[in-house]
Amino acid sequence: MHLHKFEKIWLVFGIISLIVFLSIVGVTAFSQDHHPSGGMDTIDPKKVDQTAPFDNPGVTQIDDDTYQVAIVASAFSYTAPELRVPAGKEIIFKVTSKDVVHSFTIDDTKVNMMVVPGQITTRAYTFDKPGKYLILCNEYCGTGHHFMFTEIEVY
Ligand code: CUA
Repeated sequence: MHLHKFEKIWLVFGIISLIVFLSIVGVTAFSQDHHPSGGMDTIDPKKVDQTAPFDNPGVTQIDDDTYQVAIVASAFSYTAPELRVPAGKEIIFKVTSKDVVHSFTIDDTKVNMMVVPGQITTRAYTFDKPGKYLILCNEYCGTGHHFMFTEIEVY
């Protein structure tokens, strides 16, 4: 069988495109098997109050240098009694939402977490300076959005 020169070129081009396409699809599918960095754990948003650590929100000391802070976001507040953590220690924030998408943003820091119902968002942060920091919602979540804030004290 005799192929015209241009047919040959297009045939080769077609095969190469197919290989490239399949590789991209394969790599994408493979990488989706991995958790995104930052670790997204799932949670039943209807059972937040019964699921650890959110059944007992607030500050828990894990070891000498690490504290965990569990916080539940819901329209339009954060369930987080008495947030007091030391400066210079690693604070692991774990936040989830019971209803819609909120954010957990600590003013004057790089902490700006998206809080999505059904997911636990985790972020570690070390405060350098003691003081009171404003925690607020940066994600429009309804009529009370502007009143959604709380405070954390760093000592
Ligand atoms: Cu919660 Cu805006």
